[in-house]
Amino acid sequence: MRITGLILLGSLAAVQQQGAYKPVATNAQLMTTLIIPSSDAIFDVSVNPPKTDEAWANLENQSLILAESGNLLMMDGRAVAETLWMEESRGLVDSGEDAFKAAKAKDLKRMLEVGEDILATCARCHYQYLK
Ligand code: HEC
Repeated sequence: MRITGLILLGSLAAVQQQGAYKPVATNAQLMTTLIIPSSDAIFDVSVNPPKTDEAWANLENQSLILAESGNLLMMDGRAVAETLWMEESRGLVDSGEDAFKAAKAKDLKRMLEVGEDILATCARCHYQYLK
């Protein structure tokens, strides 16, 4: 009984090890590959408002990329262990989600507002951490 338990525990640990996430990109690489292109798509709305369903659908996708990249910034091995870092990363998740909802609703006014929120989040985090 005890041995079976130990074996089970052992294999569970192996499964957890295999399934554990592993940061690959640096923070700077996350910025250039995911965060800059996806936020650019959202910032671009103010000069180039989406006119087609396809353009709105693209904004939905870019918003999801931005939202999830906030989660990536919070991962162990990447996150700076400070409350502000976690708050600003979470801010990216929340405003990315707001942008997704605005794109889904094809709500231009809301999209522009959310763009301002996103820009403020980038700026606050950089003010503290981009030296
Ligand atoms: C949670 C904090 C945080 C948030 C939020 C954040 N950044 Fe960054 N950003 C950083 C850090 C830290 C670096 C520097 C990384 C390094 O050089 O190691 C950086 C670097 C950059 C760079 C320079 C990249 C380079 O090549 O050195 C750009 C451009 C950038 N971020 C754009 C953005 C934009 C746009 C947003 C918002 C949509 C954003 N960032 C949101 C922390 C953040």
